[in-house]
Amino acid sequence: MCGIIGIVSITPFSVKGTLLKCLKRLEYRGYDSSGFVLVDGTASKAIGEISSIMSQVNDSLTSTTGIAHSRWATHGGVTDTNAHPHFNTSKTLFVVHNGILENFQDMKDKLVKKGYKFITQTDTEVIPHYFDDKLKQGNDITKAIQSFLKEAKGTFAILLMQKGSNILYAIKRDSPLVLGLAKDKFILASDIYAFSDETNKAIFFEDNEYAIITPDKYEFYDKNGKKTEKKIIEFEWTREDETKEHYKHYMIKEIKEQPQVSLRLINSFETIQNDKLNKLLELMKNTKRIVFIACGTSYHASLVGSILLNHLGIYTSCIIASEVESFIKFDKDTLCIAVSQSGETMDIVTEVKKAKQAGSKIASIVNVPYSTIQRMSDVSIEILAGQEVCVAATKSFTNQVIVMLELARRLGYKINLKHIPKKIQQTIAINEDKIKVISNELASKRDIFVLGKGMSYPMAREIALKFKEIDYIHAEGMMAGELKHGTIALIEEGVPVISLIPNNNEDMISASKEVEARGAHTIVISNIEGKGEIIVPKCDDAEFAIYAGIIGHLMSYYVGVVLGVSIDRPKNLAKCVSVR
Ligand code: AGP
Repeated sequence: MCGIIGIVSITPFSVKGTLLKCLKRLEYRGYDSSGFVLVDGTASKAIGEISSIMSQVNDSLTSTTGIAHSRWATHGGVTDTNAHPHFNTSKTLFVVHNGILENFQDMKDKLVKKGYKFITQTDTEVIPHYFDDKLKQGNDITKAIQSFLKEAKGTFAILLMQKGSNILYAIKRDSPLVLGLAKDKFILASDIYAFSDETNKAIFFEDNEYAIITPDKYEFYDKNGKKTEKKIIEFEWTREDETKEHYKHYMIKEIKEQPQVSLRLINSFETIQNDKLNKLLELMKNTKRIVFIACGTSYHASLVGSILLNHLGIYTSCIIASEVESFIKFDKDTLCIAVSQSGETMDIVTEVKKAKQAGSKIASIVNVPYSTIQRMSDVSIEILAGQEVCVAATKSFTNQVIVMLELARRLGYKINLKHIPKKIQQTIAINEDKIKVISNELASKRDIFVLGKGMSYPMAREIALKFKEIDYIHAEGMMAGELKHGTIALIEEGVPVISLIPNNNEDMISASKEVEARGAHTIVISNIEGKGEIIVPKCDDAEFAIYAGIIGHLMSYYVGVVLGVSIDRPKNLAKCVSVR
């Protein structure tokens, strides 16, 4: 997590209007604290969202070089001192870092023995002192970078700046880093979105590569100091209006965008994504084993895909990326399908790398183009959801599920996707007011249970996840059949149980009755008129998963409104989890 920005410019840029604006576009990567430093040593740090640091900066402040950071704390609490940038004792070397320096304690111990004094609890502070030490030993910075790449263990995207020098040094291993080529400036960033309103030309760093950026040129080197030739990518970015428009939160704006966003995706299946889908199907047909890997909400979408394909007799497994090694070993007979909104989730990136090394083919389903996972893939389907600003995934989730339905359709599943955008719109329009009333009641509850079966089981988990991450309410999404094997002991008078019951599913009706008999307050989501509190349009079980998910997302949103919580940026979270 963490977002980093560095700018080197021919003409002075506005600190607020350019450096911090680009940083703001990375705020979804972490918002515990932020900070920046300019080439003349002017620096500022603040706890909390980037708006706090912005309010400290004068509109007229400019610079030709500067670095900035938005933090998701790993080592050391959320304090001003632990906020980046970090510096050496004489405040001549400045560093921002995304990642984790695994052997920081060893490196720190060596530096402490040499007399270096540390003032933070971060792993990052080792870096400026390390470079200070190397420079004092007579090395130049490039030699120091090469030594650092040999000694440092862990993941990092690092920007290093020396006071008074209009040069940025950028070093990358595992954590994402990209250079944007704008009209009169170079912008280093954690992803292309940071500068996509300034330029569509970018160069991606490879692992163990470093670059030296001056106002008029850039040079890339491998870990041994050999110059590397780099390709300039001209990227396209699916743009939505990036403001909240008239909405109070990005979450509700993104939920309501879904009719358009899903239509754009469905149209792409027959046009710009047709060849890629065919290639993916070829890979699926020519492999012995298909394994989806994903985390969080993307795991829930993958689970829908896996269940659907299993129904069609195409056996697949679906594994949470951080636990892959507990379940399988990749080999050349395995197709790994990585599903990720950001395309940067470190738990997934790590497994994709292992899979590639073992000779597996890699497919991916991502939202962010040119993300690390997409660039490692043999084929990558884009979900075309546009930028998702709210930390909680909503529209990206729906589009991930739609990709699963399209894959199944191409493998023989009977479904007409063209109706989905309209039905999403109906689902929201018909139910929004009812959901507000239900959410009012749910907001005062300590626990919520969500029950599902088959393709609705992943939705039960997804809805529960949203109550946890947005509303901080304990929620459990579970297989309805498992309830009677223990969890039913927790059901008592008034406990809310949301039952997902598509097409009068008998097992689900029984499970719902069983909890009702024990006093639960059941809220049934159904697609049959008169059979529940919430009714979504008529559809099959697979499509029901989409509409039930949207209802759950809306409920968690309106509960959040009642509770007055920070809906778009829940505590302790970041949208892109780029550490393990
Ligand atoms: C979604 O609401 C969550 N914030 C989270 O579970 C997320 O889905 C997960 O971290 C995976 O992210 P990815 O899709 O970018 O890989």
